[in-house]
Amino acid sequence: MPYHTDKASFGNRAEHRINSLSTTKTVETISRLRCISCGANPETPARDFRCTVCGDLLEFLFPGWTAGECPYDPAALKLLWLKRRTSSEALDQSGVWRFRELLPQISAEHAITLREGNTPLYHLPRCGRATGVENLHVKHQGMNPTASFKDTGMTFAASSAHESGFRWVACASTGNTSASMAAYAARGNMHSLVLIPDGKISWGKLSQALDYGALTCQLRTDFDGCVKILNDLVRQKPVYLLNSVNPYRIEGQKTAAIELMEQLGWEPPDHIIVPGGNLGNSSAIGKALVEMRELKLISRLPRLSIIQAKGANPFYRSVREFGGKKIEPMTADTLATAIRIGNPASWKKALRVLEATGGEVEEVTEVEIANAKAEIGADGIGCEPASAVTLAGLKKLRRSGFVKAGELVVLILTGHLLKDPDFTIKFHRGDLFRGTPDESEASQAKYLQRAPVVLDADLGAVIGALDGAEAERDKPRGPRGLTEENGD
Ligand code: F0G
Repeated sequence: MPYHTDKASFGNRAEHRINSLSTTKTVETISRLRCISCGANPETPARDFRCTVCGDLLEFLFPGWTAGECPYDPAALKLLWLKRRTSSEALDQSGVWRFRELLPQISAEHAITLREGNTPLYHLPRCGRATGVENLHVKHQGMNPTASFKDTGMTFAASSAHESGFRWVACASTGNTSASMAAYAARGNMHSLVLIPDGKISWGKLSQALDYGALTCQLRTDFDGCVKILNDLVRQKPVYLLNSVNPYRIEGQKTAAIELMEQLGWEPPDHIIVPGGNLGNSSAIGKALVEMRELKLISRLPRLSIIQAKGANPFYRSVREFGGKKIEPMTADTLATAIRIGNPASWKKALRVLEATGGEVEEVTEVEIANAKAEIGADGIGCEPASAVTLAGLKKLRRSGFVKAGELVVLILTGHLLKDPDFTIKFHRGDLFRGTPDESEASQAKYLQRAPVVLDADLGAVIGALDGAEAERDKPRGPRGLTEENGD
């Protein structure tokens, strides 16, 4: 048995082909690039991954799947994917590469994996009761190797960079993409260049990029400004762009939805709710859902809804104000820095997903985000602020009647709590909104705050704190307590 490194092979290639063949009626997985607007089919993408005819985004298309005849036997495919979970091959152990039949082809010797994916699906009983949706679950993409959902797309796109022979990869980022890219570049022996907005990303994310050896440039602009510079850079320098306009990223990120369906026994939930920033993730999950239905892996589509922060809501406004006909870029501002994005690249793809699945778009305030994050935390699950927009959004969708009590709902948590501990500590100390116009609204949810207590090293003091906490627990909750949201 050969020793398998992280830059693994498929092992015995013949065996892989046999495995694949056993699942297919006719093997037709060859993918093609297509422009989402004008339909042009470039052989190879331009370095900015924009259509050279009309400038819009590209996507992967699998002509063999849309010919009307399903190329795979769905039951055999599900069995194969399950079997791979017991394999010792690096790529089989990856929650992305395990589903490679639904991805474009990348030569195995270029694959870079950190065994990404394989993220848990947790039931949230307290949040479920509070929102009146007992069947509430979260898929925690923050349990990936660099602690965000970006790893699922990055393993695939970084491998594509490696296959294309690039020495340098680059991204503009609000922090998570850069952390992920830097890790995968390092694993694949490539250099990475990170452009991040100065002062507007969390230390956790910045420190990851530094440790993984990226050339990290903090630009005096916002995320959208970083994107602009990067686009100009890749046109001049042989640098491989790893933002989510890169369609390989979207393909890798599709696997979160495939894995979710597998975890649910291939019985789709009623709703999936995701945060919306640059809108790559919603596009990827939606693409996977549509493809899985096409391939008869699932029989119906869940509704996919997208939640934005009110201070960074260009997509919400596009849908609500302009019927999705255009998007007006804005200067974004939110404490959920991961989604502090005013000009989302993938808005047209995300719009298509809303239309295909009958999903909704919502916006939530800063206080709603902070409270939702603490509520998820109280269920024993830690996430970063951007992820918590999903629960805050669910509350709104419950109130509007879009989500009903008996339905099965899955929130996608995109990043781990430890990505942004500053936010959490400020929240629990009651400092997050101090001196801001949100201060009085925030004070209504003080019962969610658990500030640390500084005491003398004295047993009596600790017992006093314990008794005080016990008495506090017995008190009824505040005026806007969790229990108030109950009911239909
Ligand atoms: N949640 C987290 C934790 C994120 O880091 C991001 C995006 C999103 C949600 C939004 O996902 O952009 O696909 O709609 N972060 C990017 C970054 C932009 O640079 O790390 P999206």
